[in-house]
This record gives sequence, structure tokens and C-alpha cells, in this order.
Amino acid sequence: MSRFFAIVPAAGSGSRMGAERPKQYLELAGRPMLWHALAALTRVSRIERVCVVLSPEDEWWDEFDWLPLAERLQVLRVGGPTRAGSVANALRVLAADLTAEDWVLVHDAARACITDAQVDGLIEALADDPVGGLLAQPVADTLKRSGADGRVAATVSREAMWQAQTPQMFRLGLLRQALQATPGVTDEAGAVEALGLSPRLIAADATNFKLTYPQDLALAELILRARSGA
Ligand code: CTP
Ligand code: MG
Repeated sequence: MSRFFAIVPAAGSGSRMGAERPKQYLELAGRPMLWHALAALTRVSRIERVCVVLSPEDEWWDEFDWLPLAERLQVLRVGGPTRAGSVANALRVLAADLTAEDWVLVHDAARACITDAQVDGLIEALADDPVGGLLAQPVADTLKRSGADGRVAATVSREAMWQAQTPQMFRLGLLRQALQATPGVTDEAGAVEALGLSPRLIAADATNFKLTYPQDLALAELILRARSGA
């Protein structure tokens, strides 16, 4: 029987958000941003444990009450200097009591609008896959490459282009091997691809965007409040 675990890297500083604290602790629909992703993942019954990765210097986590999520939550204060470093450190901890065959779903704390149904769909699609894969969205807009002067240098075909999201789901052994071999990646799939494997793309929707800039907060708030009926 396959087992499923989640890792939520939340050790970033949120520099593009430009707030007075890391973006994962900004208030969003009445909760810290980080709450929403953790709540969605802990609602997925097939996920045994959700591991949140904090910076060792984190001074905000303890400001909030996480008790309603605590049963399936594990807090790891092992964040590294990069997202991939934070994930690799968490995998090292998990390797103590997981097997190489166990599935790990890595999900950004900053993708606050993920739903348990989207996560469950990903697990359903990939549970028998030899490689693993990720949620992603086919590019809808026409793509432009800019030149040095802020003008269009070229139009790029959007055919077969996808925007990678998270969760990204791989078996623990493969993911550890991939991140050790190629630590400089921006997502797990990139490391797995560098091993010569092809992760599967599972179509997701635009509500699972990554909150990056201040203007993203209002849109996420609208989505979350509409769902909760508030
Ligand atoms: N992350 C992490 N450890 C790091 C850097 C990032 O765990 N050293 C996490 C972030 O907390 C976030 C996810 O990786 O949940 C995606 O990263 P991103 O959206 O880029 O967040 P930040 O790096 O915090 O933001 P920025 O790049 O604007 O500084
Ligand atoms: Mg970043």
C-alpha cells in the first residue's frame, strides 16, 4: 500500500511581497496565509502527515493557534537558504521513518488557494505512475520575449507550454536522489527531469496561483471568501 505525505516549504522571506513580515504570515481571509494551504492538505484523508518547513529563525509561527490542524501536522525548523534547500532538509528528516517508495507531495505555502479536491485529484492521477508529476496550467496568453529596452523582441509560441504549480508529487527516494544531484532547481520536477525522467503534467486551474506581489492578496481573499460563503 502506498503512503502519502506532504511537505510545505514556508521558510522564505517574501521579498517581492515587500511586507513587514514573511508573506506566509500576512493575514488572508481572517487567517495567516500559511493556514490555508495547511488546512487544505490536512483535509486530504490519504495524506498521513503534513510537514511544514520553517526557518530556524522563524519568530512568527508561535504567534498563531495551529491546534485545529495539529493532529496531522509536523513542524520542522530546518529551512535552508533556497526553496530546494528547505525541501531537501525536510526530506532528510522524513527519511528516518518513511520508505523510499512513500509518496511526498511538495506544496508552496504561498499557494493558499489550493483545495483538498485538487490535491486528491493529483494523488488519484499519479498514485500508479512510475515517475510522479505536478499540477500545471496550459498557457493561455500569447507569449512575448522582451528585449533590453522593454520592447518586444519576439513572439514565442505558447503551444505545449505549461505553467508549473504545486503540489509536485514524487517518491521520497527518487526526490532525494534528484535534489542531491541537482540542488539548484526552482521546483522538484526540474530536479527529476535532470535525471532524464519525464514527470506527468496534471491540468490544474488558475486559482492555484502563487501569491507573490502585494496585488495578489486581494484576489486570493476573494477566492477564499467566496468558497467559505463569507
Ligand atoms: N521557501 C522556503 N525556503 C526558502 C525560500 C522559499 O521554504 N529559502 C518557500 C516559500 O516560503 C514559499 C515557497 O518556497 O512558500 C515558494 O517560494 P516563493 O513564492 O518564491 O517565496 P519567497 O522566496 O518567500 O518569496 P520571494 O521570492 O519574493 O522572496
Ligand atoms: Mg523565492
